[in-house]
Amino acid sequence: MPAEGEAMGDKIKVLIPEDTVGKRIRELGVQISRDYAGKEIHMICVLKGGVFFMTELSKRIEVPVTFDFMSVSSYGAGTKSSGVVRIIKDLDQPLEGKDVLVVEDIIDSGKTLSHLLKIFSERKPKSLKICTLLDKPDRREVEDVKVDYCAFTVPNAFVVGYGLDYDQKYRNLPYIGVVEQ
Ligand code: IMP
Ligand code: MG
Repeated sequence: MPAEGEAMGDKIKVLIPEDTVGKRIRELGVQISRDYAGKEIHMICVLKGGVFFMTELSKRIEVPVTFDFMSVSSYGAGTKSSGVVRIIKDLDQPLEGKDVLVVEDIIDSGKTLSHLLKIFSERKPKSLKICTLLDKPDRREVEDVKVDYCAFTVPNAFVVGYGLDYDQKYRNLPYIGVVEQ
């Protein structure tokens, strides 16, 4: 386990400590369990960033849960999301009639999720909601992404850890940090 502040060679500033993340995920689990009482939740994780959050959150949910995974790549150059997504791995199961909860690591411009929501809603789920670990509302470029559950709102900085990567590294950090330039 890398020490806080010296992860894998780069300097990482802790933004949200591990115990704060855990506590907030437990709270969200209680809220979601209450909102979905008597129902079954079909959780969809957008790989790879959402994996850590989805597994931790699902452990705190007390109604029956099923999982599916989707992998997409965003067309377009550099770090900016174009929002046009190519499906690398589609869902294994149909969504029709299910109470679907999309679990994301972070919503930035919102373009990727906006595109995914169109794909998912065409598959006729009974309900379709969004749960994200982090939200950067200042960066939003689309209007049709309504976040139903959000663990933390973060400022406009590049964050890593708890599933989020910088050049594929730091996903395994147990806290949320900022890479210091
Ligand atoms: P969007 O289409 O701009 O909302 O892109 C969202 C995706 O960009 C997320 O699912 C992440 O994979 C990635 N992303 C956006 N901001 C960050 C960040 O601060 N750290 C790591 N990945 C990020
Ligand atoms: Mg993502």
